[in-house]
Amino acid sequence: MPWTEAKTRTECEDEFGRITRLDFSMPNGTTEDYVILGPHLAAYQAGRVARLLALFEMADQYGMTGFPVSRFEHGLQTATLAHRAGKDEEYVVCALLHDAAECIVFDNHAEIGAEILRPFISDANYWMMRHHSFFQIYHMGEHIGVDRNMREQWRGHEHFERTLEFCDRFDALGFSPMHQGMPLEFFRPMVERVVNKIGDTAIAAMMPDAVLTAAD
Ligand SMILES: [Fe+2]
Ligand SMILES: [Fe+2]
Repeated sequence: MPWTEAKTRTECEDEFGRITRLDFSMPNGTTEDYVILGPHLAAYQAGRVARLLALFEMADQYGMTGFPVSRFEHGLQTATLAHRAGKDEEYVVCALLHDAAECIVFDNHAEIGAEILRPFISDANYWMMRHHSFFQIYHMGEHIGVDRNMREQWRGHEHFERTLEFCDRFDALGFSPMHQGMPLEFFRPMVERVVNKIGDTAIAAMMPDAVLTAAD
């Protein structure tokens, strides 16, 4: 679903109504209140892909400038390289969105991007996304006065080689004005399958592991 087709708040409230009790608060909420909220949650959750890709598209306008291509094109190129190398769909989606959070903040964009996708991806892909910016320093550290080998602190970690490969074979090469990544429409169905596999009302994904364990 393109982001322009995502339901607005007004459209949702026209369709499903909303809680109108003037004294509503969380402590005095009733089952009837939460029955009203049910379809709103489903509609909101159905818009996850649209919002994720809207964030990614924002990278074209608000991502860091100065490189030959925008962060949006960089994501497309990185995902294209990973796809052509035979990486699986979840990996390709991570490659596509690994810098999406950079349209908000540079400093911890890797951590934010990893957390956004965390409910939908494996621990290996989460770790790879979360640490990619430290591994990527290898390619520029000597030019900016930073230890290019900082990634060595993680050598021996179970996801070290995966993250190194991501940076060296895909992320670091996805900046070429000579090459074009495949279009976003090629990747959209992949994002939909990866994100929607946990369902539209997956409240469980919000719960800390400890809570889920305790409830088992
Ligand atoms: Fe990055
Ligand atoms: Fe990147």
